[in-house]
Amino acid sequence: MSSTKAPQREVFVSRSAFIFAAIGSAVGLGNIWRFPYVTYDNGGGAFIIPYLVALLTAGIPLLFFYYAMGHRSRGSAPLAYRMVHKSAEPIGWFATGIAIVIGIYYAAIMAWAGSYMIFSLNEAWGDDAEGFFFGEYLKMGDPGISFEFVPAVLIPVIIVWILVLGILLLGVQKGIARFSKIFIPLLIVLFLALVVRSLFLPGAAEGLNALFTPDFAALADPGVWIAAYGQIFFSLSIAFGIMITYASYLKKKTNLTGAGLVVGFSNSAFEILAGIGIFAALGFMAAAQGVEVADVATDGIGLAFVGFPALISEMPGGPIFGFVFFACLVFAGLTSMISIVQVPVQALREKFGVGNKSSTLFVGGGMAVISILLMPTVTGLYALDTMDAWANNIGIVGSAVLAIVSVGWLLRKLPMFSRHLNAVSSFKLGITWMILISITGVVLVYMLITQIITFI
Ligand code: PFF
Repeated sequence: MSSTKAPQREVFVSRSAFIFAAIGSAVGLGNIWRFPYVTYDNGGGAFIIPYLVALLTAGIPLLFFYYAMGHRSRGSAPLAYRMVHKSAEPIGWFATGIAIVIGIYYAAIMAWAGSYMIFSLNEAWGDDAEGFFFGEYLKMGDPGISFEFVPAVLIPVIIVWILVLGILLLGVQKGIARFSKIFIPLLIVLFLALVVRSLFLPGAAEGLNALFTPDFAALADPGVWIAAYGQIFFSLSIAFGIMITYASYLKKKTNLTGAGLVVGFSNSAFEILAGIGIFAALGFMAAAQGVEVADVATDGIGLAFVGFPALISEMPGGPIFGFVFFACLVFAGLTSMISIVQVPVQALREKFGVGNKSSTLFVGGGMAVISILLMPTVTGLYALDTMDAWANNIGIVGSAVLAIVSVGWLLRKLPMFSRHLNAVSSFKLGITWMILISITGVVLVYMLITQIITFI
């Protein structure tokens, strides 16, 4: 068995340590600021059908697939691919490359969220949330290239990197697992408090109606199904190399499929909760401004740093609500960022045979230096948009390619993976799993083609 040849490596001491770390990676900004709007925009309540189909027939089966790859090879993405086929290693490096790009700009978003925890306390944006965010905070008023630092962004970016590298330096169990076990329960408690508060706001019901009113006709639109698969792949952190890396730290005898089921369902539960909380709050904002929910519904940076500040200003007790909301973004984002930085740290560690500390300092430190030099400048802030669009397109297209190659070209390895999973797991897989993985491959080809068409 290949795993016996693998070098001594760190482990998660328990399955729950792994589960918390994997949930920490999965539950991120995608759950809070992506899922609610994707649902609203793709058939509302009816979206739950393609979403659950994607989760059960593609998301969870692919989680099992990547767990098997990481656990069997006990290696990072490049090594895991190489162990399946010696010429497959570049696929792992491609995933590692995406992880590096995302890590570099993700730190900036974390930094903004950290700053906004403080800004919430005195509603620093006054009555112009948009002007404050882009003009005063990010200093993006002047067009053109400028490598001058924006100090208000520089300092929090440095703090984010100190935290991330500090946690990674502590190692897999004492760092990643221990902090995930603290951050994730804290995130759930804080987020539940936000959701309950939002549900008691006037207008909340209209928000929920806007989110959940089903438009079954939308199910005939292939774009809606693609949106469901895209959300599931992104949300479960599939194909960035993260799940391979985390599963490689599991002990030899670990119930892999059981863990996959817990991670998959917990992530979706959090996501649906976020949908309820965000749209209840948007319903309140629409009512307060005398407009429709459709006029205030949005996602991403616009939702968090423009929409929410305006909402916070309208709300009784807004400063505390805002502080907790941005704290949730920080906790959710930090555990995702830790997982993405660990991908290149582990990959290069194996490539050059260095220890965890040196690899974290060189690889993570290198990413930190680029991120600190680039992201807090006006140019960096403009670049973030491009990097995000690029990583998301290339990320989704790329992950499709990776999965197709691994599922299609390496398809004949599926029975081997299935035997590996069944040898250690309680939930046994059979031919259905292999069929589902194959169908997912076809869906991914379809997604890849549509992505390319939209690109050109
Ligand atoms: N699963 C994450 C999310 O839903 O936000 C996706 C992710 C994004 C993971 C960025 C890691 C990361 F750095």
